[in-house]
Amino acid sequence: MSPFVLTRTLPLDATAAALRADVTEGLTRSPKELPPKWFYDARGSELFDEITLLPDYYPTRAEREILISRSADIADATGARALVELGSGSSDKTRHLIRELGSLDTYVPVDVSESALRGAAQTLLSEHPELTVHALVADFQYGLSLPDVPGPRLVAFLGGTIGNLLPAERATFLAGVRSGLAPGDALLLGTDLVKDENVLVRAYDDPQGVTAAFNKNVLSVINRELGADFDPADFDHVAVWDRRQEWIEMRLRARTPVVAKVPALDLAVHFEAGEELRTEVSAKFRREGVRQELAAAGLELTHWWTDEQGRFALSLSVPTDKPA
Ligand code: AVJ
Repeated sequence: MSPFVLTRTLPLDATAAALRADVTEGLTRSPKELPPKWFYDARGSELFDEITLLPDYYPTRAEREILISRSADIADATGARALVELGSGSSDKTRHLIRELGSLDTYVPVDVSESALRGAAQTLLSEHPELTVHALVADFQYGLSLPDVPGPRLVAFLGGTIGNLLPAERATFLAGVRSGLAPGDALLLGTDLVKDENVLVRAYDDPQGVTAAFNKNVLSVINRELGADFDPADFDHVAVWDRRQEWIEMRLRARTPVVAKVPALDLAVHFEAGEELRTEVSAKFRREGVRQELAAAGLELTHWWTDEQGRFALSLSVPTDKPA
């Protein structure tokens, strides 16, 4: 049996079509907005990796601390034979967990990037030649069908990326995950937690300007993919805490009136001076809110682990009998 299989459920042209639709809709409505997934071309992924090393960006380090201290507990609680990681990227976050899951025989990384999946699989298989890697090229936001691998299965969605979804999207996403779980399976979810506003804003507006460059990179993506002529220098990076919604918003604010052409869409986009484009929502959570959202999707919270400073949480939940 080959230790590496790759399945594509995402059509090759789906990404280009989705970008066109998101730019058409998002830049012609008021207020303007774009989904954060368009940050992540090669340059954007590199900038995000840089963000995770910034002194002010704590979530990656806090989550790693929990994974290192709790992987043995996660292994005991789940007895997982298969680990399904949504948005696996380089599979860096799960390396420690994979090492601790003694009964693991299949790793299922799920990502939109085939090159990231192939690269990660190669590294992992060199460290764990006994592992079967069944990579899935998929956009899990639109429902995912898991390969039929021997359970119990542990589905992991880490990094706090669930915070990029709006509440209604989160409900749909969690119900979709729940519907793919069988009795004995579990969900491991990473959530950044509500904390002091200054700490939160600094994590998204670092003095080094890396997050600003990451935010503006979405304009470079639109320029390259759709032939647009945005000048990133025409925009300021903005990070604000919405205390009612309990989320951070990243925005790009036009410094002057801006007109940008998007030839591939036969579109001209107008910004007034000071007009903002929302590029990301990054929701922060509380234990009770996470418990409720999981319950609404037919999942019962069984474990809640935080880092020493209580900045970030990993939760474990299992399907309840009640269908979602
Ligand atoms: C990768 C989605 C978890 O929301 O904190 C980092 C992305 N945006 N800095 C986050 C991000 C700005 C990050 N996630």
